[in-house]
Amino acid sequence: MTTPNSERVGDVVGKPINRVDGKLKVTGAARYTAEIPVAHLTHAVIVQSQIARGMVERLDTSAAEQLDGVLAVMTPDNTPKLESLAKFAREGGKGPPPTGRSLSLLQDNLVHYNGQPIALVIAENFEVAMHAASLVRATYRADIPVVDMALALPSAFPYTQKIFGSLPPQTLRGDIQAGLAAADARIDEVYTTPMETHNPMEMHATIAAWDGDRVTLWDSTQNVYGVRGVVARTLGIPPEHVRVLSHFIGGAFGGKGSAWSHVLLAAMAARQVGRPVKLALTRRQMFGPVGGRPHTVQYLTLGAKRDGTFTTIRHDTKASTSTFEDWIEPAGLVTRTLYECANVETNHHLVRLNVGTPTFMRAPGEASGTFALESAIDELAYALDMDPIALRLKNYADADPESGKPWSSKSLEACYALGAERFDWSRRNPKPRSMREGDWLVGMGMATATYPARRAPASAEVCIYPDGRVVVKAASHDLGTGTYTVLAQLAADATGMPIQHVTVELGDTNLPPNPISAGSMTVASTGSAVHLAAMAARNKLVELAVSDPDSPLHGARHEDILIEEGCLTSRGSECGESVQTLLARHGGQAIDGKAEAKPGDETQQYSMHSFGAVFVEVRVDPDFGTIRVSKVVGAYGVGRVLNPKTARSQLIGGITYGIGMALMEHTVTDPRSGRYVNADIAEYHIPVHADVPPMEILFADERDERVDPIGAKGIGEIGMTGVAAAIANAAFHATGARVRNLPITLDKLLESKV
Ligand code: MOS
Repeated sequence: MTTPNSERVGDVVGKPINRVDGKLKVTGAARYTAEIPVAHLTHAVIVQSQIARGMVERLDTSAAEQLDGVLAVMTPDNTPKLESLAKFAREGGKGPPPTGRSLSLLQDNLVHYNGQPIALVIAENFEVAMHAASLVRATYRADIPVVDMALALPSAFPYTQKIFGSLPPQTLRGDIQAGLAAADARIDEVYTTPMETHNPMEMHATIAAWDGDRVTLWDSTQNVYGVRGVVARTLGIPPEHVRVLSHFIGGAFGGKGSAWSHVLLAAMAARQVGRPVKLALTRRQMFGPVGGRPHTVQYLTLGAKRDGTFTTIRHDTKASTSTFEDWIEPAGLVTRTLYECANVETNHHLVRLNVGTPTFMRAPGEASGTFALESAIDELAYALDMDPIALRLKNYADADPESGKPWSSKSLEACYALGAERFDWSRRNPKPRSMREGDWLVGMGMATATYPARRAPASAEVCIYPDGRVVVKAASHDLGTGTYTVLAQLAADATGMPIQHVTVELGDTNLPPNPISAGSMTVASTGSAVHLAAMAARNKLVELAVSDPDSPLHGARHEDILIEEGCLTSRGSECGESVQTLLARHGGQAIDGKAEAKPGDETQQYSMHSFGAVFVEVRVDPDFGTIRVSKVVGAYGVGRVLNPKTARSQLIGGITYGIGMALMEHTVTDPRSGRYVNADIAEYHIPVHADVPPMEILFADERDERVDPIGAKGIGEIGMTGVAAAIANAAFHATGARVRNLPITLDKLLESKV
C-alpha cells in the first residue's frame, strides 16, 4: 500500500480466529433464504417435464386449480409473454453465463431436458402446492432423447467462444508430431469424468415480493448483482427496481452463480398472484434445472525423453452441454501452463445432450483436467521407471510456458518437498501391489494442484461510528467460506479497531457493487476493496486528530500515528486518545472510507496461479475391491493466509469434494427417458465423515502483492484440484489397476482383477 502509516497495522490478519458468524449459525439465528419470514407469503412448486425432448401438447390443470388454497397454475397458456426478453433475444442477446442463461420461463411448450419446468403452482401453503403440482397432467409429443455421452461422441463439435470471456478455446504451440517423434516413451489414454450434481446442504430457494413496480428477491445466490441484472433485463424493469439479498448461503460451489429459471419464475409468480412467493427447490429438483458438472471425455497424449523431459502434451476435451446452450468445462486450461514443454496442444469440444445446461462446479476445468493430466503423468512415470515427483520436477515451469510471463509467485517446488516429507513419501515402494497392511493393499499416490489467482473489480465502504463500532459494507457473499470473518479481520487491522467491534454486511444490492463470489477470487477482489476502504477511513481519523488543536496528537506527523485497539497514539509518546473521544469532539459524526479495487496492468506482466501438491494413501480390499482413503497431506502456496483456520477448512473441504469426485459422485440418467435416476442424496453419494480421513494441510510461506494489495491468492477451489488423480494414482499403486473413468468404484477395481 502507498500510505506511509500502512506499515503499522494490526495483527488479527493471519490469526486462526473463529468465524465471526459462527454463533449465529450454531444458534440458528442466521437465516437462510427459505427461512426469511415474509408476511402474506405464498408457496410455489414447479411442475417438471417427464420427457427429455419434444413438446408438451396439452396441460390439464383443472384438478389442480380446483384444490382449496390454490391461487394460480401458471402454464405457457396463461403466463404473460416476456417482451423485453424476446427483444433481447431478437437483438442477438443471450448474455454470457453465469448471469445470462437460456431459461425455462413458460414462454413456449418445447422440452429440452427431463425435469424442465413446464408449469408452476402457487398456493397458500407448501403442502397444497405440492399436491396440486402432482395433479397437473401433461400430454407430450416425445422425441427420442440423446443422453448417452458415448453414443453422442461422434457429434462433438469444436467449442469456439472465449473461455471465461477471455481465454482461447484452442491452443497450439510447437510441433506435436515432431515432439512425439522425439519421444522415448508415450502415453495415449482416454480419461472420463461423469456428470456430477451440486449437493450443498442448502437447496436453491427464492422469495420474491413486489412493492408496486419494485421487486425484492431473497435468493440463495453467490452473485447478487448478477441476479439483479438478469431479473431486470428479463422482466423489462430498471435494475434499480430490483433488490437482491443473500445473507447466508449453505454452500454454493458455483451452482448458485447463475440466476436459474426458478428465480425468475418466483418473481413472475409473485407479480401474477399479487403476493410474495417462495419457491424452494427440493433435493430432486437440484438435478437438471440448476446445472452441474458436465460429462468429460479427455484424450491425453504425452511424450517424453528417457530422462523424463516432456516432448509433447496434447489434451483434447469433449464435454457434454445441453441442446440449447454452449457451456464448456475447460479441462485443458491447466495443461497449457502447468509444465514446461515445447509442443503443447489443447482443444475443447462440445457434445449436445438432452440434459439441463451444466455450470461451474468447484474448480470447473481444473478439477476434471487435473484428473486426466496428473493421471497420465503418473502413467508416464511408470513407463519411464521414474519417481512421479522427480518427473514433475524435471519439467518444472520456471515461467508460464504459455505466455512466457514470469509467475507472480510460485512455491510448487516447496510444496512437493513439504508434502513429501510430511507424508513420508520415501517409504513408498513404487512397485504396484507391493505394500500391504494386514489384508489391505496399500497405495500411495500424489498429484499437482493448481488454480488461477484471479480478481475482479470490487468496491467497499467502511464506516467508523462515534461509539467505536466499525461497519464494513460490500455486496459480496459468504458461501460458508469465511468471507464475513476475513473481511472483519482485514478491516480491524487496517482501522486499528478491535475485531469485536467490527460488523460486516454482505449480500445485498443496496451495498457497494461486488463480483460473483466464485473463481476463488472473493478475498483478492472484495478483500482488497475492504482493505483500501478501511485504510481510507483510518487516514481520515488520523487527519482529524493531527489537525485538531484539542487533540493530544495535534501537530504530530501523519505517519507517526498508530491506531491500536481503538486508541490513537503518536510513535514514541505515551499520550493519545481513543477514537470515541476524538469523534465525540467532532459532533458525533461517523467517519467513512470508500474504495474501489480492481486489477491493473500487473495481470499483463505476470502469470498468476496458486500451486500445491496433494498426497494420498488408499487401502483396497483385494477380495472386494473396496477402496478407502486413509491419509491425505496437502501442501499449498496460496499467497498470504489471512486466517489459517478458515483457510484450512476451505482446503479440507476442497479435498473432501475431491474424494467425492474420485470415488462416488456420478449423476446417472436413464438413456430412454433422460430422467435423472439417482436424484437424491441416498443414491447420489457424497463423502460422509466416515469416508474422510484425517488431513494435514501445510502452507508454503508466500505473500503475493503482485496479485492484490493484501497478498492473498485465493483458496476456494485449489484444494479440489489434483485429488482425483492422486487417488487414482494411489489406487493403481495399491492394486496395479488403472481406472481412467471416474468414479473409482469397487466394480471397476474388481473388473481390473485386483
Ligand atoms: Mo466456484 S465453481 O467458481 O463457485
